[in-house]
Amino acid sequence: MWKHIFGGGKSTANPQEQPSAIDSIDRTNIPRHVAVVMDGNGRWAKARGLSRSAGHEAGARTLKRIVRAASDMGIEVLTVYAFSTENWKRPPMEVDFLMRLFDSFLQREIEELHAEHVRLRFIGRRDRFGDRFLRRMREAEDLMAGNTGMRFNVAANYGGQDEILRAARSLAARAAAGELSPEEIDEECFSNALDTAGDPPVDLFIRTSGDLRLSNFLLWQSAYAELFFTDTHWPDFTPEELASAVNDFAGRNRRFGGLSADD
Ligand code: FPP
Repeated sequence: MWKHIFGGGKSTANPQEQPSAIDSIDRTNIPRHVAVVMDGNGRWAKARGLSRSAGHEAGARTLKRIVRAASDMGIEVLTVYAFSTENWKRPPMEVDFLMRLFDSFLQREIEELHAEHVRLRFIGRRDRFGDRFLRRMREAEDLMAGNTGMRFNVAANYGGQDEILRAARSLAARAAAGELSPEEIDEECFSNALDTAGDPPVDLFIRTSGDLRLSNFLLWQSAYAELFFTDTHWPDFTPEELASAVNDFAGRNRRFGGLSADD
């Protein structure tokens, strides 16, 4: 357990204080799969007169804290949107900075994540990364492949529609080769052709920094996700706010298209 995140499991020094969101988490109703659009690094930096790069660096520090908090809370799968298929349109300097940041994050954090039994996986297209980063991605995935702790998916060069198309193409190729009949392609089969194969559907979809959209993230997987939007810019997002989102989720009435007992 990363006790330092929660101050040893107790975040209320004074017993008369209100219990924090972390203390009051309903551990019997934790979302299995949480997806996060980590938005607002640029706006966070701008508000402080800093460069966008400084915003992304602060975002990486937040990510480290949130991964540990999610694991401590008992979340099974955390999937974060690090870089979309559309983000290549950003100025080359920013793209280059982000690639170096991902690379150094991997170098710095890998041992600790591994020691905590986290299983890292990259989702998205692999066709535009440099050889060195690709090699590091593969090495990290291989190192952690047998881990049984929280699954941590990093979406890099990822787009939801692109992922669905790649899955459809691979199933069509298998059908054309006679390995699969079209009737066998059901929801489970299709889910297993996606980059997130083996993961449960997204229960809770969080987006920081105020925009109210999905931005092509985990479109198939989020079919019945509960949405949580916050104005907080990603670098300011805390384990406390993650706990608030989890508590908010626990209070939602999920009907999955059916009726609840009192309807
Ligand atoms: C969106 O904010 C953020 C990104 C495109 C990059 C996300 C990257 C991080 C959080 C850094 C750490 C990640 C890893 C995997 C180490 P934005 O730049 O679009 O912000 P803005 O909308 O305010 O301009």
